[in-house]
Order: sequence, then C-alpha cells, then structure tokens
Amino acid sequence: MATTRSLSDLAQLIHSRTTSIETGLKAANLPPPSFNATAPPALPLSRELEEVRDELVEALEELRALVLGPVGHLFTTMLPMPGLTATLHGIYRFRIAQNLALDETVSHSVLAARCGLPEPDLRRYLRMATSLRLFEEPEKGQVSHSVASAFLASMPAANDMLGTLIEEQVPAGLALADALQQFPGSEEPSEAAAVLGQNGGLPTATKGKVDKKQDFYASMSDDPERVRRAASAMSIAAKIPSHSVQHFVEGCGWAESCPRKVVDIGGSEGKLCKALLEKYNAIEEAMSLDRPEVVADVDVPKELEGRLTFGGYDFFEEQKVKGADVYLFRNIFHNWPDKYAVQILRNQIPALKRGARIFVNEACLPEPEATKLVTNRIAWASDLIMKMVFNATDRSKEDWYALFAKTDERFKVVSITTPPGSAMSIIEVVWQG
Ligand SMILES: C[S@@+](CC[C@H](N)C(=O)[O-])C[C@H]1O[C@@H](n2cnc3c(N)ncnc32)[C@H](O)[C@@H]1O
Repeated sequence: MATTRSLSDLAQLIHSRTTSIETGLKAANLPPPSFNATAPPALPLSRELEEVRDELVEALEELRALVLGPVGHLFTTMLPMPGLTATLHGIYRFRIAQNLALDETVSHSVLAARCGLPEPDLRRYLRMATSLRLFEEPEKGQVSHSVASAFLASMPAANDMLGTLIEEQVPAGLALADALQQFPGSEEPSEAAAVLGQNGGLPTATKGKVDKKQDFYASMSDDPERVRRAASAMSIAAKIPSHSVQHFVEGCGWAESCPRKVVDIGGSEGKLCKALLEKYNAIEEAMSLDRPEVVADVDVPKELEGRLTFGGYDFFEEQKVKGADVYLFRNIFHNWPDKYAVQILRNQIPALKRGARIFVNEACLPEPEATKLVTNRIAWASDLIMKMVFNATDRSKEDWYALFAKTDERFKVVSITTPPGSAMSIIEVVWQG
C-alpha cells in the first residue's frame, strides 16, 4: 500500500528538486522557464534532470491532492472535465490559436469576429483556456498567445493531434463502455469503440462486406481529410526524442554480433532500416516490408543502393523472405489484439531458420508503482487508446512472454530491456525450431 508523505516532507522535496532544475538550467546557459509566447516551447533538460523533474511533478500532484482533501481533489478533477473537452474542441474547430498572430494582443471582439463566433462564446472558451495556460489575458477583454497556444498555432501537426484526440478519441472513449457491454472480451478490431461509434453501434463485420480485422484506419479510408489528419498527428510521435529509432539502433546489441540480413515488417518509409544500415556496416541486406500501397513510391537513398530494398507484404500472409537473421517489428503489435498478433507471428515461422531472432521495439507497460502515478499515466492512457481504437493493447513484460509462449513454444524470449531515455523497449526473441 502507498505511504502518504507528510506535507512538509513533500514541500522540502519540491524545494530541493526545483533548485536542482534552476541550477541545471543556469549552468547550461538556458533561460528560466516561462509562459511568455516567445519562450522556448520545450525545456531541454538533461536525462538526469528529466528524472528530477518527474519526481518534482509527482510530489507537486501528491501535495495538491492532500491539501485539497479527498472531496476537493475529486471535484476539482471531475468538474472541469466537460468544459475542458468543450474548450479544446472549440479551439480546434474555430481555429482560435491560428486566428491570433504570434506577437499581437487584440480584444475579444476582434478575435471573435475572425473566428466567426459571438463574443461571449469566444470569451467562455478563452477564460477556460487561459486557466490551462493556453492564451493569456494581459488586460481584461484582451487576448494574446501564451507559449503553449503559440506552439499550437505554429505547428500544424500539433493542431492535427489535438483534432485527432478531441474528434476521434474522446468520442471513442465515451463509446468504450458500450462496446465492452455489447462485445465483452472482443478481440475484433471491427468491434472497437472507435469503429462502432462510426457505424451506429453495428460492427462493420455484421454488414457482411468486410472481415472482422477491418480496423479503425480501414473504416476511415474513404475520408481523405481524416486519413491525412491521423497521419499528421502520428508524425509528432516520430519527432519526440524518447521515440527516436536511435534508441533501438544503439540498444540492440548488434555491435557485438551483427546480423547480415535484416527484415523490418511494417517498416513504413524505412526509417529504421536506414538508421541500422548507417550504423552497422556488417549488415549486407535490409528489407523494409509494408503494405504495397505504402512502399509503392518510396525511394532508396543513393548511398544505400544495393543494401536496402522495399517490398510489398501483408503480414496476415505467410512471410516469403526466408532465412534472414533478424525480423523486426517496430510499433506493430500494440495495434493488434493477441488473436491477430499470434497470426502475424505464426506467419513468420515458415521463413525462420534455427537461431533466427525476432526483435520487437515497442512500449512495455510499466509495473504499477505508487511513486510513479503521474509518470505512468501516459502509459495507462495509451493502453486505453489502443483498446478503444483497435480493440488492442499495450503489453507488459508478462504479456510479451505470454504472447510468444502461446504463439509457439519454440519462440524463446531472451531479454526485454529499455534503453535509457527511450519510451520503447527492445524485446529479443530467438527461434529454436
Ligand atoms: C504504427 S506504424 C509503424 C511504422 C514503423 N514500423 C515505425 O515504427 O515507425 C504501423 C505500420 O504497419 C503497417 N501495416 C498495417 N497493416 C499491415 C499489414 N497488414 N501488412 C503489413 N504492414 C501493415 C502500416 O502501413 C504502418 O506502416
């Protein structure tokens, strides 16, 4: 059971961790954090200071909850929820951030006219938003950007992520309980909350035109704007340092024993293969496989010609590239429930030689820890998104062992490691068939 820290212990910890961060920023000649629109949008903290920051945020939230008292904490969490969702949606729909120049201060009435909103309605969005430090009200009735709203205004992909969260995932979250009641224990992507919500509560499969693994992306494929927005939102993840392919490249252990032939399944535009080929000269051949339409127009950089190829492959069919040393799966399995993850893996078996290795590079759910409630919240939230959107799951260490064991007993999980600073783990598996 969690031990509750005393208010003064928490306050002391907050003071000491804050001092460490201030000192670290000064030593690196970085400006102090600020909400000002011209401030840097991210704090470039060292890995050690990021850990200090996580501890600080954990203590701040614990202290806040304690001093509000249980009911105060519950109500201050619960009550703003509908208004918060409505406000974020309004900011997205009426392009409130984009309608305000980065360096200007205007009246609510001027911004309301630009957004096509009655002034009182814009004001209620803005007041709620300002309480979240999105926008500022430097004088009553005036509005300017804060650094967070300026970021939203100037980064189209961040705005697309807001749109995807608020228009796709929030409704899916509300449909999840219905989906769980309608299809208890379902492992069919076509019965995921996000898909049901779009089809009037009926799984696409019952309409007799698609198979049950028809997923959320397939269900939106006739709407180019939704497809574009989802892809753009995903492109943000690739830019986050903790999601960089370099964590795999440095952490896979290939400096000691490097494979000659590598196949990346669901490799998209080939980023991982490219990074591996650049680092490991001993790799003679890397193949990046994905659905034919994804790889149709991808170019091989001149310097990698002869070592890198792209190929069309549906991982629900048997693997045709036989005898490679390594088969890679990066961010593939969390989109699929076990029923289909097992099929994908079994489809590789005919291609595997004894000793071939499978590497999975994907999030590994943390152990529940009372001292990491805030840090781990993103992991729990991401797992819920996988459930509501794909009827799928993020997996813990135990889940990874169980998945390979039920796929085939000849798979042996060798190790599950997480490189420092990486949001994703490396799961190494050897084929002993
Ligand atoms: C989440 S993305 C991961 C992309 C890449 N591995 C990475 O980590 O950036 C999932 C990838 O799986 C591919 N994919 C989805 N269904 C597939 C299928 N049936 N066969 C092969 N690839 C598929 C998608 O096109 C996409 O590139």
